[in-house]
Amino acid sequence: MNLDDVPDDLSAVLFTEEQITTRIRELAARIDQDYADRNPLMVGILNGAVMIMADLSRALSIHCEMDWMAISSYGSGVSSSGVVRILKDMNTSVVGRHVLIVEDIVDTGLTLAYLIENLKSRNPASIEVCAGFRKPEAQRNEVEVKYLGFDIPSDFVVGYGLDYAGRYRNLRGLGILSPSVYS
Ligand code: XMP
Ligand code: MG
Repeated sequence: MNLDDVPDDLSAVLFTEEQITTRIRELAARIDQDYADRNPLMVGILNGAVMIMADLSRALSIHCEMDWMAISSYGSGVSSSGVVRILKDMNTSVVGRHVLIVEDIVDTGLTLAYLIENLKSRNPASIEVCAGFRKPEAQRNEVEVKYLGFDIPSDFVVGYGLDYAGRYRNLRGLGILSPSVYS
């Protein structure tokens, strides 16, 4: 789905597919260097990280492995509580592995803070984070995103894996969802 397939649903376009692709290639180049000969284990957080994982992993020149976790965070729906439940765990052991968590977006950072603590307790060699987008609220929780696509405003965004009510994940760019869609 292209941005101009749903022009009335977006109050603004933040990034086109081309802009995202360019940025993902830059991140991949850094990961190529930082993880040369380290066979990183990339852990994607379902469902939102599917798009960035697919693009980032294919932009790498080095070998990597991929695994997935599904989590649900209890909260009011619009804000994250930081209380996280693992719905699907990884299949791979992280012991001694260089883990790279791949997330769609960091909002408060509470989900990520929980995940990092959880994975750290399993004795990996290292843990870093790659996220497509980060909202300003993330500053409150001091979660380090080593490989960040873009900082964005606090608005609710859709596209590039991010959904509203299950839709828009297949939108090629990233846009701010128009309030008319959910009112
Ligand atoms: P926290 O606050 O724990 O939450 O960092 C991160 C998760 O919240 C979801 N999220 C969004 N999903 N549009 C979405 O479709 C958004 O603007 C948005 N902001 C946060 C997302 O699941 C992320 O993993
Ligand atoms: Mg998510």
